[in-house]
Amino acid sequence: MTKILMVCLGNICRSPLAEGILKSKLPKDKFIVDSAGTANYHVGSAPDRRAIKVAKENGLDISSLRGRQFSTTDFDTFDQIYVMDESNYNNVMNLARDDNDRDKVKFILNETYPNQNYDVPDPYYGGPEGFENVYKMLDEACTVIASSLK
Ligand code: 4NP
Repeated sequence: MTKILMVCLGNICRSPLAEGILKSKLPKDKFIVDSAGTANYHVGSAPDRRAIKVAKENGLDISSLRGRQFSTTDFDTFDQIYVMDESNYNNVMNLARDDNDRDKVKFILNETYPNQNYDVPDPYYGGPEGFENVYKMLDEACTVIASSLK
């Protein structure tokens, strides 16, 4: 099993979308995809209704996902950890114990824009178009991830 973790701040907008999108592109018997937030504000919560809606419009149901907080033990569980933005990157890297942990952490948009360290913009305080934009960015990145893994 290859295990991949998607990480954002709240685990209710960007990373549950990334989880749902990547899961839909990989065979279930060979890959585990999960998501987590660096913050604890939304532990146990369903994804934001706007994230659920944009996923549904694209044929994915993410409504049963629940928020959880990233923890150091995730470095032991997962092979690759994709972060959405620079703040997630710094928070996760600060919890890394060694180079083996640090090597697992990647900016997800580096899949589509290598070495640019671009952020997936936080859509939480904006309107629905922010979620559509995020969906598109994540879908492109997950297509690259899935084809490199398969
Ligand atoms: P996410 O978006 O990190 O993509 O899940 C956010 C969700 C909630 C908050 C911030 C960002 N918040 O401040 O509650």
